[in-house]
Amino acid sequence: MKHFLNTADYTRAEIAAMLDDARAMRLSPFGEALKGKTVALLFLNNSLRTRTSFDVGVQQLGGHAVVLSPSGGMWPLEFEDGVVMDGEAEEHVKEAAKVLSRYCDVIGVRAFPKFIDWKEDRKDKILSAFARYAEVPVVNMETITHPCQELAHMMAVEDQFAAESRPGTDGKKYVLTWTYHPKPLNTAVANSSLMIAAKFGFDVTLLCPTPDYVLDERYMAQAEKDCRANGRSLTVTHDIEEAYKGADVVYCKSWGALPYFGNWGPEKPIRDAHTHFIVDEKKMALTNDALVSHCLPMRRNVKMTDAVFDSSACIAYEEAENRLHVQKAILKALMK
Ligand code: CP
Repeated sequence: MKHFLNTADYTRAEIAAMLDDARAMRLSPFGEALKGKTVALLFLNNSLRTRTSFDVGVQQLGGHAVVLSPSGGMWPLEFEDGVVMDGEAEEHVKEAAKVLSRYCDVIGVRAFPKFIDWKEDRKDKILSAFARYAEVPVVNMETITHPCQELAHMMAVEDQFAAESRPGTDGKKYVLTWTYHPKPLNTAVANSSLMIAAKFGFDVTLLCPTPDYVLDERYMAQAEKDCRANGRSLTVTHDIEEAYKGADVVYCKSWGALPYFGNWGPEKPIRDAHTHFIVDEKKMALTNDALVSHCLPMRRNVKMTDAVFDSSACIAYEEAENRLHVQKAILKALMK
């Protein structure tokens, strides 16, 4: 049984096939691929896009979605094995996953880190537990990576390059830039951005304020491996001009520096000293007419100026729309 947990588990060709199917469904949205099927969508964190696009997508393919969340009355779950369950949790994930598998044909899981100990959070225990115990395919709806966002992003990038008569991603320059946000955020989308850009043949640059903001070695290594296999490079820089110069894609995201995980106080002055990492017109003028995007939600004029976000270079709305199309393609692929 195949899950959709991480794009590292899929080849570029497999992902490209899903993107082709997503493009076909953009033209012809309705079908019966999920007729009679039920998809459980478990949200342990907030969502606008993921929740809506999965629900609508399942309906468009003739299926039914059940949204579950702790605030919606679900029993609090235990995710550790072998524990004495004398705390808040009323049910172990082992039972929850197996029981949901008796009712549903796919289980989607959103479970962000707890932001206390990265060594623990990087184990992705909740998603892994569902994948281990479920008897149906499990989809990562964002944990410590966000693979659905990766596909939506790459579809938007490829489509816009094609529309501008500069098709293809191989050999183009991709910049993932850290941007300021008042709070330390999840690294999931940043990890995912690096991995999908590397897989799709870009020369990848990670721009961040200091070495502390370099991403987890697991994702750096995966991106490095894919870049090397494609004959490309992965570069880390703290120099804004160097990063933006000649860029074909700028993807912006904020995240917390991993060495300060769970001890965020000392990170705040570093973060506060780098508000100038905002994506603005001056920086974009250094690029090769780069496309720019963000996964959303995004704080305007904190991460990206209105002028850039509302410009024709920005493909964030296309990327958001593509969540609907790519997730339908993922669900179809898992049902095969
Ligand atoms: N990009 C994204 O996953 O959006 P939501 O958090 O609103 O689902």
